[in-house]
Amino acid sequence: MKMDDQSLMAALSENVLTVNMLLIVFFLPGVLADCGDLKPALFITTPKKIEALNGSCLHIPCSFNTKEKSFNSSRTIYGIWMKHKASFGNPASSIFNSSGSVNTYSLNITGNLREKNCITLFPDLKTNYTDKYFFRVENGPFRATACADPLQITVKDSPWSPSINISGGDLKEHQSVTITCSALTPCPHSPPELTWNLQQDSHRQTEKNTDGTFTTKIQENITLSDTHDGYNIRCSARYPVNGGNKTAETAVTLSVSYAPRNTSASISPSGLVSAGSWVELNCSSRAKPPASFTWFRNSKHGAINVSVGQVYSFNVTEGGEFYCVATNDLANETSSVILLNTKGNPVFVAIVVGVIWFICLVLSVWYFKSKCPTPQQTRVGYFSSSVCSKFLSAGL
Ligand SMILES: *[C@@H]1O[C@H](CO)[C@@H](O)[C@H](O)[C@H]1NC(C)=O
Ligand SMILES: *[C@@H]1O[C@H](CO)[C@@H](O)[C@H](O)[C@H]1NC(C)=O
Ligand SMILES: *[C@@H]1O[C@H](CO)[C@@H](O)[C@H](O)[C@H]1NC(C)=O
Ligand SMILES: *[C@@H]1O[C@H](CO)[C@@H](O)[C@H](O)[C@H]1NC(C)=O
Ligand SMILES: *[C@@H]1O[C@H](CO)[C@@H](O)[C@H](O)[C@H]1NC(C)=O
Ligand SMILES: *[C@@H]1O[C@H](CO)[C@@H](O)[C@H](O)[C@H]1NC(C)=O
Ligand SMILES: *[C@@H]1O[C@H](CO)[C@@H](O)[C@H](O)[C@H]1NC(C)=O
Ligand SMILES: *[C@@H]1O[C@H](CO)[C@@H](O)[C@H](O)[C@H]1NC(C)=O
Ligand SMILES: *[C@@H]1O[C@H](CO)[C@@H](O)[C@H](O)[C@H]1NC(C)=O
Ligand SMILES: *[C@@H]1O[C@H](CO)[C@@H](O)[C@H](O)[C@H]1NC(C)=O
Ligand SMILES: *[C@@H]1O[C@H](CO)[C@@H](O)[C@H](O)[C@H]1NC(C)=O
Ligand SMILES: *[C@@H]1O[C@H](CO)[C@@H](O)[C@H](O)[C@H]1NC(C)=O
Repeated sequence: MKMDDQSLMAALSENVLTVNMLLIVFFLPGVLADCGDLKPALFITTPKKIEALNGSCLHIPCSFNTKEKSFNSSRTIYGIWMKHKASFGNPASSIFNSSGSVNTYSLNITGNLREKNCITLFPDLKTNYTDKYFFRVENGPFRATACADPLQITVKDSPWSPSINISGGDLKEHQSVTITCSALTPCPHSPPELTWNLQQDSHRQTEKNTDGTFTTKIQENITLSDTHDGYNIRCSARYPVNGGNKTAETAVTLSVSYAPRNTSASISPSGLVSAGSWVELNCSSRAKPPASFTWFRNSKHGAINVSVGQVYSFNVTEGGEFYCVATNDLANETSSVILLNTKGNPVFVAIVVGVIWFICLVLSVWYFKSKCPTPQQTRVGYFSSSVCSKFLSAGL
């Protein structure tokens, strides 16, 4: 009997020890924000890191979960936010208790805790709120801190530059693209004002992302042309904060490929060139990527490819018609034809000389014929008529 009592006492004290250990196991992770080696009983889903703007609000997307059977959503649920003070034996301090007992930063859990929704709103952040925050749930005997899921909040004093996004990878002329300027929106209740140097009345939209955060954007559809190449798109985001606005700007330069344009051929020296002299034909074109050039010469048998490259230079042997074709990845374009005229071309000179000679001859014959007497007038002067008849017989 005494032995039984003793063994009972031993069994009891063993139980007390186990209970104590259980208490340590269950309450340590509850009170301290650090998990240590212990498995957490509460999990939350939020972005791991979240940035906010000094003097603005912060919407924290949040939901929680637990596998513990002791959680019963029919009982009162307290949602608690704690600020991390990481040191052993120093419990994290509560900054908010949904019971209303603590609210250091005027927070509000706007989510429905019964639906395991812990969406939280910080109405007015200060730079010194930058810290790690932990969520805790107290629900009857269920009391646990999401010690493995800290939320890092960083409060910045300067806003984020918006980002400009253009749909479609390589931009080409005639392509229709959507240009979007988007800005982080930690406080969807007062989203940033977006303005850009495209269409002024672009409709602003604030949208929820898949992770529960928000983005504000403006969009415009444009059909690209060569004139858009090199265009600088600037977008600025103006965030309302307590006592004013904070602005940040972004710019991107469009790079648009286009087919060759304004293709023209020039010749140097211009005007008549003498046979055997040096001429330079130069083809120019606007194109992106830059064009490559091919020179053609018109002949009786059609166009002949005579040279490749921007400049075609050669010693003139004869005149002709030349043109160039500028080609890039997108298309090709043909220049107008340029005429190469030569002076000192033997055939040309012979023909010209021959024609002039013939004209002179015809003119002199006509002249003498009109001055010389007809056979009926021979009596007027022997001498003149004899000269005329000699000339006429020689001339004809
Ligand atoms: C944060 O904003 C407040 C006004 O809302 C201003 O007084 C304070 O200087 C700002 N903090 C920093 C670090 O700029
Ligand atoms: C949850 O609590 C309610 C009332 O407090 C009780 O009726 C219900 O049985 C409990 N559910 C579970 C699963 O314990
Ligand atoms: C939260 O408030 C409830 C109700 O007042 C209280 O029972 C609980 O201990 C509080 N929890 C913390 C961590 O402050
Ligand atoms: C907290 O949010 C709830 C739901 O949005 C609202 O009804 C309540 O008035 C808010 N409380 C405070 C103190 O702002
Ligand atoms: C944070 O700074 C504000 C002044 O901007 C001050 O009133 C407040 O006490 C500070 N809070 C903490 C927790 O340091
Ligand atoms: C731009 O938008 C497209 C489609 O909307 C998306 O796939 C892409 O990731 C975005 N790029 C950037 C840098 O945001
Ligand atoms: C731009 O075009 C897309 C389809 O490509 C359309 O869904 C969108 O509404 C257009 N946006 C605007 C501002 O016209
Ligand atoms: C802040 O910007 C808004 C427009 O977004 C403007 O109406 C307001 O006057 C600005 N406030 C200050 C103080 O600059
Ligand atoms: C280039 O070509 C375009 C038409 O494609 C024309 O409008 C423009 O005036 C030309 N520019 C020059 C410098 O010739
Ligand atoms: C060809 O013409 C282009 C444009 O007119 C000019 O920039 C280039 O220097 C010229 N090249 C030669 C070799 O004359
Ligand atoms: C062109 O003629 C010049 C003399 O006028 C000569 O020096 C040069 O070698 C010739 N070039 C070619 C390619 O025939
Ligand atoms: C120019 O393009 C046309 C049709 O795209 C093609 O038939 C022609 O061969 C091209 N010319 C050159 C010189 O590449």
